[in-house]
Amino acid sequence: MLYLLLGASKAESSGNLLHFFHGLFAEAGAETMEHYLLGLYGIDTKDPDCVDAVLNTRFTDFALGDRQRAFEPLLGDGIFTQDGAAWKKSRDMLRPQFMQTRTKSFPFIQQEVEGLIETLSQVVRKDASIDLQPMFFQLTLDTTLAVLCGRSSINSMTTEHASGFTEAFEYAQSRLMLRSRLGPFYWLANNRRFRESCEIVRSFAEQVVQEALQKHAEYSTNDTSDRYIFLHDLIKTNQDPVVLRDQLINILLAGRDTTACLLSWVFKFLARHQDIQEELRNASLDLESHRAGNLPTVGEIKSMKLLENVLHESLRLYPSVPINIREAVKDTELPRGGGLNNQSPIFIRKGQAVGYSLYSMHRLERFWGADNETFRPSRWEEASIKDCRKAYAPFNAGPRLCPGQEFALLEAGYTVVRILQTFDYMKELENEPKEFKHSITLVVAPQNGCKVRLGTGKSF
Ligand code: HEM
Repeated sequence: MLYLLLGASKAESSGNLLHFFHGLFAEAGAETMEHYLLGLYGIDTKDPDCVDAVLNTRFTDFALGDRQRAFEPLLGDGIFTQDGAAWKKSRDMLRPQFMQTRTKSFPFIQQEVEGLIETLSQVVRKDASIDLQPMFFQLTLDTTLAVLCGRSSINSMTTEHASGFTEAFEYAQSRLMLRSRLGPFYWLANNRRFRESCEIVRSFAEQVVQEALQKHAEYSTNDTSDRYIFLHDLIKTNQDPVVLRDQLINILLAGRDTTACLLSWVFKFLARHQDIQEELRNASLDLESHRAGNLPTVGEIKSMKLLENVLHESLRLYPSVPINIREAVKDTELPRGGGLNNQSPIFIRKGQAVGYSLYSMHRLERFWGADNETFRPSRWEEASIKDCRKAYAPFNAGPRLCPGQEFALLEAGYTVVRILQTFDYMKELENEPKEFKHSITLVVAPQNGCKVRLGTGKSF
């Protein structure tokens, strides 16, 4: 047990925690293994059939465990933390809005990404070293907020409730991570700054909801705007301010960092793989819209095969939520991992935790081959990729499949294309280590940010 705790702590500070967990599977020589930690036995798996059982075929045998209690001060009661009937009710309630977001969120994506391009163009006159990661976190916060409640940039908001929102949201989230790691001892992480940060975020969300409720009558009768706003639509079916506030914060949390991390990893890979970057830039410059002096369309972004492959391959190597956990709500079993040869079903006791690593599943040699650690978007063109699909689940699987998937891929894809169209080159900094380092909160981000050299004209 000590080996596990010390090893994990050392690996975390050197930006290698996921590699460390990955190595534990190799040491055990198994895809599913038992661990003993803080007096509790748990199961860890990277076996696609076991992950599928937890998320899909035996979905009702598992729940989120301590997540609801640990996250409650910030998230209240919403889709991301609920289980059972309450979760089903939220999922059904929000389904129509997520369906609409798929097709109608594009004007907000365009608006916010164009803001980012303008800022970048001011900073990078000709050539500059720049950390894109904080910009991606701001972008995804602004875009998700805009789609949810019609507000464009949190920075441009002058209300008393908006001030300090970003900082409070980020701090509260970092404490949620600590609380979830503490398991049943989550309540120990409850300092004053955490409580105040939760209060700032909730007050802001309450204010947004109040304004929307006041205008409710207006947009039910006079809904002429070409912009689809999630909250305005949701209000047509539910006017409970607490429900609306909590769902808003839940979706913001689920949608913001995940997409920002994807963007950071994509740009790190593109800066390292100049040939792929060049090919993708050429495809972006070659779009009909660009040649006509216009912005890319949804149809164009969705039809760019190389772009899709780059996004898939980045999510394979660094799935935004790399490790996750469920808890058995009754005695059950997983299809493999038990018996002397690890091939028999394995018994899971009620209350036992099952951790699953997408990071490791996405690197299984029996699916992804000997070059499983290599960034190679072309693998998504090969015939064998259809057999790999069951070992790929960056957006989760089963009934809790991420409802923001299409929106996230559109936002990330559009951002990639616009940055490549705007700048003639992007290079890795010289001191970038060979192995990327990462840091883990609820999501996995590059540990040292996404620092690159961007420029226009000839590279030097
Ligand atoms: C690259 C971007 C994204 C990735 C990789 C991602 C991944 C995931 C994963 C793995 C889960 C399951 C978490 C769990 O059950 O423990 C999830 C759930 C969820 N995601 Fe995403 N997500 C992304 C973007 C978004 C966006 C942009 C939104 C909304 C605007 C969103 C909304 C949600 C919601 C509401 C849930 C909870 C669904 C439920 O429990 O029924 N996600 N996502």
